Amino acid sequence: MKRILVTGANGQIGSELVTYLRLLYGDQEVIASDITLENCSSPMEVLDVLDHEKFRNICESYQVDTLIHLAAILSVNAEKNPQLAWDVNMQGLLNGLEIAKEFNLQFFSPSSIGVFSHESPKDKTPQLTTMRPTTMYGISKLSGELLCDYYYQVFGVDTRSVRFPGLISSVTPPGGGTTDYAVEIYYAAIKDGHYTCPIKEDTYLDMMYMGDALKLIVDLMESDSSLLSDRNAYNVSAMSVCPKMIAESIQKYIPDFTISYEIDPLKQSIAESWPNSIDVSIAQKDWHFNCQYDLDNLTKHMLASLQK
Ligand SMILES: NC(=O)c1ccc[n+]([C@@H]2O[C@H](COP(=O)([O-])OP(=O)(O)OC[C@H]3O[C@@H](n4cnc5c(N)ncnc54)[C@H](O)[C@@H]3O)[C@@H](O)[C@H]2O)c1
Repeated sequence: MKRILVTGANGQIGSELVTYLRLLYGDQEVIASDITLENCSSPMEVLDVLDHEKFRNICESYQVDTLIHLAAILSVNAEKNPQLAWDVNMQGLLNGLEIAKEFNLQFFSPSSIGVFSHESPKDKTPQLTTMRPTTMYGISKLSGELLCDYYYQVFGVDTRSVRFPGLISSVTPPGGGTTDYAVEIYYAAIKDGHYTCPIKEDTYLDMMYMGDALKLIVDLMESDSSLLSDRNAYNVSAMSVCPKMIAESIQKYIPDFTISYEIDPLKQSIAESWPNSIDVSIAQKDWHFNCQYDLDNLTKHMLASLQK
């Protein structure tokens, strides 16, 4: 990667990834783009990824060699507006892939644990298994994986991807996903000493701290392509946790913290359709994927950054 365009740069991942990439590759080599640019800094471009011509022109004029495509509609918002989710998650992705094909760009677009479903094995869910997602988000993410594989196999585009679990971070609030509770709980712990959780206390989901997610994107993109036995997409996760475990971890640092539960039926039903834990052994074997943060480390860092 030498010159990189990031779409969806204003979001939970993009806002931190742009800073991280600029430290590694230089400020002028990482172009931030989003449909709105409130929190972005130069170089930056307003870009709706559905505008194929503008998307193409930005890649051409900056002569980028890498496209990190983050613009998407997340799981809960996708269920509220499935047509928009299909348009952004599929047509936006297709536009990005076409441009990557034309300019021979390296291409990364994250998939999600949302590709799995009730029909997938619940524990240590393998990378390749029964999928059959039942949410618009999951359907678009799984279709997106297949589309990225198609562009790799048929056109030779260097597409790479991971299935992110819920990402926990303190810079930008999450954008309408099922695992948002795992971020909100830390804000509430600092602000109110109490959190009302929309997910049942014993619902297990995979999670990861943002610092580990940023590093793995670079590790995967910089890996020798001959090491990659799969392209779209690798299972990755740092931990499998439930709300009760996160609350107990917070109580180690804020003993008076309390949690109660008011279950949101949409969020709960999506969470229950996803695995308890996924098997990450193929990513570990192929490109030495690993994570630095376990739950208590993550809690310590989240509380310290939010307190600041
Ligand atoms: N955050 C997570 O926990 C998580 C987990 C799994 C996968 N992912 C995937 O990672 C990617 C980024 O996720 P995120 O958490 O940063 O999402 P986010 O919702 O925080 O950010 C997405 C960004 O895309 C932008 N966007 C929406 N429509 C657009 C359009 N038409 N054109 C240009 N920009 C548009 C939004 O303005 C927003 O800034 C997505 O593909 C998502 O599916 C995220």
